[in-house]
Amino acid sequence: MAPFLLATLFFKFHLLVLLVHGYGQANTCRSFCGNLTIDYPFTLQSGCGHQGFRDLLFCINDVLMLHISSGSYRVLDIDYAYQSLVLHDPHMSTCDSIVLGGRGNGFVVEPWRAPYINPTPDNVFMLLGCSARSPLFTGFPGKHLPCRNVSGLGCEEYYGCPAWNVIDPRSDGPVYGSGPPDCCAMQFESIKSVNLSKLDCQGYSSAYSLAPLRVSGPDEWAYGIQVKYSVQGSENFCRACEATGGSCGYDTDGNSDLCLCGSWNSSSNCDSVQSRASYKGKWPIEVALAGLSMSAIFWGNHIRLG
Ligand SMILES: *[C@@H]1O[C@H](CO)[C@@H](O)[C@H](O)[C@H]1NC(C)=O
Ligand SMILES: *[C@@H]1O[C@H](CO)[C@@H](O)[C@H](O)[C@H]1NC(C)=O
Ligand SMILES: *[C@@H]1O[C@H](CO)[C@@H](O)[C@H](O)[C@H]1NC(C)=O
Ligand SMILES: *[C@@H]1O[C@H](CO)[C@@H](O)[C@H](O)[C@H]1NC(C)=O
Repeated sequence: MAPFLLATLFFKFHLLVLLVHGYGQANTCRSFCGNLTIDYPFTLQSGCGHQGFRDLLFCINDVLMLHISSGSYRVLDIDYAYQSLVLHDPHMSTCDSIVLGGRGNGFVVEPWRAPYINPTPDNVFMLLGCSARSPLFTGFPGKHLPCRNVSGLGCEEYYGCPAWNVIDPRSDGPVYGSGPPDCCAMQFESIKSVNLSKLDCQGYSSAYSLAPLRVSGPDEWAYGIQVKYSVQGSENFCRACEATGGSCGYDTDGNSDLCLCGSWNSSSNCDSVQSRASYKGKWPIEVALAGLSMSAIFWGNHIRLG
């Protein structure tokens, strides 16, 4: 009986230490904007999250905005399980309206940030009203012509949208016939940057497939830019940090990963050796609290047993 009781107490003690210890320092980096949770690797605070995502998100009147070199986008959703987010550009064409005049952002990300965020392979960019001189039709290095359907989404179906009723699209091109097509669909990967002025295009639309969901037509497509994010091998660091009650962050000077442990920072996690030394002020309270609770549990058990 005694060894069992001891083991139980030991377990409870550890549980308590974990609870007391985690309390007050956990989630120092987590925040909210409207109904969206901002968590690792994203952040609204300097030094929190992953350095690849610094100065990226801003919360303005409960609206989450993402800022990259091509402009600002509203963040409609962050999916932490699939590591993706959905962006909206008000000057992007949809099934209901076509916006020309080069007002749309397109999608261009700073070269240093490119390893961290990129539109997904299932996201189709449809470039609209591009001139015959556009590199889309004159050929990119290697002379490949990028126009093609992406994950079953393409211009032929997009032309069925009500927005085209007033325009009457031309789908033939110089490489196909007389003048460029009004729409050229492609994956981000085949051009690496959607810069409307560089591509000599008037506008664009973007949609992504909700595979394996089948949708009947372009009016049911999900419009927006679906972006995949990646933390480039920092997942294990962050998991270990959070498991010890820390928040994942980075050193704003050196840009190395940091585990934020409340009153101190660790280069590994909040249980690391250097932690013992810098606890000083905090440990006695935690130990006293844990000790008190342990006695309570002990006496509770004692009375029940007796
Ligand atoms: C968040 O709010 C927006 C409207 O502001 C709504 O469209 C969306 O469905 C909400 N998302 C969640 C996850 O509740
Ligand atoms: C820990 O790191 C964060 C982010 O770099 C910084 O803001 C904070 O001041 C640091 N805290 C301590 C106690 O050094
Ligand atoms: C887009 O291309 C134009 C012309 O090449 C260039 O001046 C501009 O800086 C580019 N925009 C971005 C966001 O890279
Ligand atoms: C895209 O798919 C449509 C059918 O949905 C087809 O008619 C068209 O030829 C395809 N376009 C390209 C460029 O493959």
